[in-house]
Amino acid sequence: MPSLESLLEQLDTRRLPRHVGIIMDGNGRWAESRGFARIVGHREGSRSVRAVTRFSRKLGIQALTLYAFSSQNWQRPAEEVAGLMALLREYLVSERDEIMDNGIRLNALGDLDKLPRMVREPLDALMGESRNNTDMVLSLALSYGGRDEILRACRAMIADGVSPDAVSEELFSQYLFTAGLPPLDLVIRTSGELRISNFMLWQNAYAELHFTDILWPDFREEAFVRALLDFQSRERRCGKTSSQLRQEAETA
Ligand code: IPE
Ligand code: IPE
Ligand code: MG
Repeated sequence: MPSLESLLEQLDTRRLPRHVGIIMDGNGRWAESRGFARIVGHREGSRSVRAVTRFSRKLGIQALTLYAFSSQNWQRPAEEVAGLMALLREYLVSERDEIMDNGIRLNALGDLDKLPRMVREPLDALMGESRNNTDMVLSLALSYGGRDEILRACRAMIADGVSPDAVSEELFSQYLFTAGLPPLDLVIRTSGELRISNFMLWQNAYAELHFTDILWPDFREEAFVRALLDFQSRERRCGKTSSQLRQEAETA
């Protein structure tokens, strides 16, 4: 198995994805396979969050969006939801210094009004405190659903009295939670599931998708670099042909 160093040597740091989204899945299975309660997997998963965030910042990725809790995850047993909310609070308190010291701006996407106050308060505080940081944007998708996001955008446009002729892709994008973020270039999903589970439906249009069987608590620097190398091996044609892309590169 190649070491992290040798994998890093293969990485072209000038061609990194600008915006990486991660569907962090498999915490429950990680714990259950070891005979632990699911929350133990979520706790270990928060260590992967720390490792991947730190590493993204070090590599120079502009935006990292982590799918931490979906609109549908409210349907889980109350005990698991409470455990996840407690962990989230703990994360927001314990990561404050790391986020501020590394120039990271914290952002959140989703129906934040549904979050309990014990999460909302440290979240709002850290978003406010970090709002002028410019080295990387870390977005947490919390109580987030892609369909919900699209419906909210529609409602907001109608409420603003936008005329049907004015509705363009650019304008629509400005009504989404991701307004102002770079385009989503790469989406990673761990744990072997081959689906999007309501994550960034609009933004996924031309994202490259990387699926890995690794469970989120085991996903650390090495697995992340492998995902980035996979991204760099793709040709992003966006509807064009390979020879058109070559010509464009030559004339650029
Ligand atoms: C992902 O891990 C974390 C959340 C969805 C909150 P899961 O809890 O979905 O883990 P599995 O899929 O059951 O293994
Ligand atoms: C997706 O994982 C949501 C998050 C990672 C937060 P789930 O485990 O909830 O998704 P499904 O149920 O497998 O689609
Ligand atoms: Mg899951």
